Amino acid sequence: MSDVSYRKAKVEDFPEILALIRSSFDGVLREHGFFDTSPFASSKLPAIPQQGFPWFEMGLKEDNEGFWVAEVGGEIAGITLSWVRGSLWYLAHLFVSPAHQGLNIGQNLMERAMKHHKGHAITNRALVTFAYNPVSISLYARHGIYPREPLYWMEGPSQQVKAEVSSTKLRDEKIEDFEKARGILNRIDELTLGYPREKNHEFLFRTPSARCYLFSTGKEPVGYAYVWQSGRVGPLATVSHETFRDVLRSAFRLAAAEGAANVGIAATGSNEQLMQVALEQRMRILDTYLFMSSKPFPNFANYVLYPTGAML
Ligand SMILES: CC(C)(COP(=O)(O)OP(=O)(O)OC[C@H]1O[C@@H](n2cnc3c(N)ncnc32)[C@H](O)[C@@H]1OP(=O)(O)O)[C@@H](O)C(=O)NCCC(=O)NCCS
Repeated sequence: MSDVSYRKAKVEDFPEILALIRSSFDGVLREHGFFDTSPFASSKLPAIPQQGFPWFEMGLKEDNEGFWVAEVGGEIAGITLSWVRGSLWYLAHLFVSPAHQGLNIGQNLMERAMKHHKGHAITNRALVTFAYNPVSISLYARHGIYPREPLYWMEGPSQQVKAEVSSTKLRDEKIEDFEKARGILNRIDELTLGYPREKNHEFLFRTPSARCYLFSTGKEPVGYAYVWQSGRVGPLATVSHETFRDVLRSAFRLAAAEGAANVGIAATGSNEQLMQVALEQRMRILDTYLFMSSKPFPNFANYVLYPTGAML
């Protein structure tokens, strides 16, 4: 086995990085019997673009210290990308190619990513991994990041989405201009999560397949939801749990109107309202993940995480 070397990721690596993530992801799905049901199997994803990797470009620009590759014999054998927003560190990706697993590459990449910060002391570390991969779960637990929350990827036919919302007072407005919503989104995040996510919102507003809706009762903004052309919902946040169910139902209605065959969401197990609404929409569990963090994480009663890997 040749030596392993570690270096920062570069723009030229992006196609190879995405191919590695997909083959490593597929490997876990196959090994645990989720390849046919998971919507994240590479067979169900669009072809790898030859140019334009906006998510990795943002990683290089904003989180260069957390974006590493491992090379063996001139080929990329592992990658990691962590992002930092204020005092929160989030591991968006850690993947080793199936041929190079079990050789300490994952641990070495993890150690490099964990040094990433932006001046603030890191007060919490979080990530999502496969609920059924003991190797990744134990690797993170050994770095002080513990299992906290089951996540179920659920989908159901758009046609089955129920249109009615119990509160007639709730208004939704599609936000086109990030600058108009910046202050409101920041305030909702501050109240819901306590971590700034401004860069992530900016990224989502630049993403043509995602739309941001703001929800209000009277003049008071009570939450936001991103709705995707693919019918997926999230991230979604509400300032109180009282409005969560209605905002979620409205978001599903808007997602169903996008025209995709299915709507989908990452349902957190501890959020009873989320599970109830997903089941009332006749959604089914297609894949299962695990949210891990070094400290208890605020506040899945009012928050829907998406995408699971990147937590935008
Ligand atoms: C998870 C992953 C990144 C780890 O990287 P890796 O290079 O294979 O792992 P390492 O060799 O650095 O370390 C693996 C450790 O897990 C341990 N391990 C393996 N099976 C285990 C089990 N069932 N329970 C507990 N620990 C286990 C190994 O013993 C090893 O620890 P040790 O070196 O102290 O003995 C890699 O296996 C991978 O990409 N898997 C598929 C994709 C994935 O799950 N990524 C994480 C998504 S967030």
